[in-house]
Parts: sequence; C-alpha cells; structure tokens
Amino acid sequence: MLEEEALLVRSHPQARPRMADEVRLVHWWVSGGEAAALDVLKQNLAKEDLVFNDTPIAGGDKLKADLKAMIIGGDIPTAAVMSGYDTWNWAQQGVLADLSTLAAAEDWNSAVPAALQKFCKYNGKWIGVPVALHSINWLWINTAAAEKIGLDAPPASMDALFVALEQAKAAGLVPLAIGGQPWLMATLFDSVVVATNGLDFYKRAFVDLDDAALKSSDMIRAFQNLSRLSSYADPGYSRLNWNDATDMVITGGALLEISGDWAKAEYRSAKKKADVDYLCVRFPGTEDDVLFNADIIAMFDVEPDRQSAQTKLAKSIMDRAFQASFNDAKGAAPVRMDVPDATFDAFGKKALADVRAANSNGTLIGAMSHGYIQPTGIQQAYFDVVARVFRSEIRPEAAAETLAEAIAAVK
Ligand code: BGC
Repeated sequence: MLEEEALLVRSHPQARPRMADEVRLVHWWVSGGEAAALDVLKQNLAKEDLVFNDTPIAGGDKLKADLKAMIIGGDIPTAAVMSGYDTWNWAQQGVLADLSTLAAAEDWNSAVPAALQKFCKYNGKWIGVPVALHSINWLWINTAAAEKIGLDAPPASMDALFVALEQAKAAGLVPLAIGGQPWLMATLFDSVVVATNGLDFYKRAFVDLDDAALKSSDMIRAFQNLSRLSSYADPGYSRLNWNDATDMVITGGALLEISGDWAKAEYRSAKKKADVDYLCVRFPGTEDDVLFNADIIAMFDVEPDRQSAQTKLAKSIMDRAFQASFNDAKGAAPVRMDVPDATFDAFGKKALADVRAANSNGTLIGAMSHGYIQPTGIQQAYFDVVARVFRSEIRPEAAAETLAEAIAAVK
C-alpha cells in the first residue's frame, strides 16, 4: 500500500456503520475441512454473544487485494487472517491495533513460541493473535493405494520415495497429487531442500541468503529432485486447487501428496482415519524439523465502540480449550505450548509433540514458501523460480543461479 493510501484510510469516514458486538473476520478458509474448523470458531463466538460477520475470500492473493480495497474505502474489518511478513506489511501502514495490554494480562509472551511471536508483534506491540500453528513437511499416503503397490511402510528416504512413485505409476495410479499454484510447488520445494541438504543448508540459503549456498551444487541437486518429482504429477495438475489434490489421495486415485497439515481437515471431514485409511509421516529426511506456517488473525485499529468485541475475539482465540478444539479440526498444532493434548487424536498429539520438541531445540523454523523467512518480494522471486522448474520451463542446473539472481534483484 502506498503512503498516500494509508493517509486516506485515516481520514476516510467509515464506509458502513458496524454494530458494537459485531466481529467481522476476513479469511481464506473455504474448503470443506476449513469450513468445519471455522464452525468451531463461530460456535465459540456465539457463546460470547458476538455477532459473526463472515467474509470468506478464496486465495491468499485475492484476499490481500480485496482487503486493501476495503481498507482504502474505510471499510475496516475487525480482523483478517494473514501469515508471515504480511502482518508487518499491514502494521507498517499504521492500520493494526495494539493488543499489548491484553497480551500482558494473559501472558501470551510465555505461551507462544518466539519464532511465531515475531510475526504477531510489530515494534514490540502485539498486532494480532496466532490461531493455528501448521507445519508443511508432511507426507500423506492412501493406505489402499499403498497396499495395491506392495508398499508396506512409508518411504524413509528420497530414494525410497522415488521407488514408490515409480510403482504407483506402473500400477496406473496418479503417483503424486499436487495443485497447480506456485505456492504449492514452493511448499513442496521447502521440504525437498531440507531433505536433500539438511536444515543448516536451508537456513544458510534462505535465512542468511548466502549467495554461495543459493548457487551451490547442493541447491541444484534439490532442484533436480523437484524436477524429478514433478514428472509424477497428474497431467491435469495445473487446474487443481490444493484440496482437489488432497481429495485425489483421500479417494485413492493418487498414492500420495506432500502437504501442510491443513490436509488433515479434509481427511477428517471425509471421515477418514489416520493409520487406517491414510498414513501421515514427516517428509523423509525432515523428521527432526518443523517447517511452520501459521495463521495469524491480525486485528485492525477499529473505532472505540468496536474494541470490546475485538478484545473478546482475541481472548477467545487464545483460550486453551478453543485452541484444542479448533486445531483438532484444522489439522494444526495449538499456537500455545501450554495446551494439554489429552483430547487430541494420534496425529494431533504428534503434531504438538513435534512442535514442542522443535521449539526447544531450535528446529522450529518458518517456511520460506509461506512468508515466514523473507519478506514478500523475495518470497515471490522464490515462487517464480520454483514454479518454472516444476513446469520444466527452466532446467534445474540453471535454476540455482537464476534463484540467486532473482533474490539479489529484490533484496
Ligand atoms: C493456510 C491454511 C489453509 C491452507 C489452505 C495455508 O496457507 O495457512 O490456513 O488452510 O493454506 O488453504
């Protein structure tokens, strides 16, 4: 947003008057599983006597564009879901609230992992609340499809993964389910980089933006693995959304997918059971690492008479019981480390245990693909090069150099 636009926001009259007990949430949760999770939130707000004004917008880019138009028009929602550096982009415009008093009273500082807190705060002030701590380095396998190809355990290495994909192809299955948008290819590539070269390399390349690491033969090997994986995608993959791809695995048309744990919400909605109908393990070679992507509910600087409803919203999202029930439905780990896992299923228990372990040993690290390592410009450059490799528009051997140059041009 431009500086003048930000000024316009501050001087523009409110477009539509809002009721004091209304909570207007702009979000991107539109799939079946996501809607089920959102229901948990809606029920929680009803208990607080809040009126939920639902504003779903499919797709992160569309949400950003629509949100910008709303804000410029003076139509300020109570809150909007966002991730990574986007929270800072909005905070820089001076349009977000300051929840620091509430945060101190509720001790969010000790409950939320520091790696995630970083994006819930701007200049030391809480500007939103995290709602779901997703991680992306998961491999999802349909058990019936695995049996069909004689796969009795999830692949434990990249080599074993390629063997399984080849067998699925020979059996007439779609080996690898994936959707056609660059963010999905980048989500996959994050895991591939760690699996190919380890977490230290991932940090050198993406956190430090070390030129030698970006251009290295290790990075080329990661791109080669990505390119090889892309050859196992369904020929029609470019038309698919993430949840269509997940559905292909749920229904057994595809053997596997590599996806963030939002996929679990779809399995849950389809009444599929972990370890029975599907297997879910860490992507081979990333077992000790948690590459996270969290949903943050950023709070806007609303008029005084709307603040009490906003405070109730923030408090209820951070409530331990809500964190447990919402994230059981959403597929994520709770954002607070002090939520008991008693009510979680086996997958939820593992997700939380992994996050807790990674949080204490320094391996809880943001996903490059989800804006948790680098600002938007670099994230976009990453999407662009990764997608071009996946679509065979550039050779993996040229991609490392191209990525380094693309990053250098925007950093
Ligand atoms: C979001 C999740 C969402 C998923 C699929 C991720 O980027 O963090 O909340 O469920 O995309 O839409």
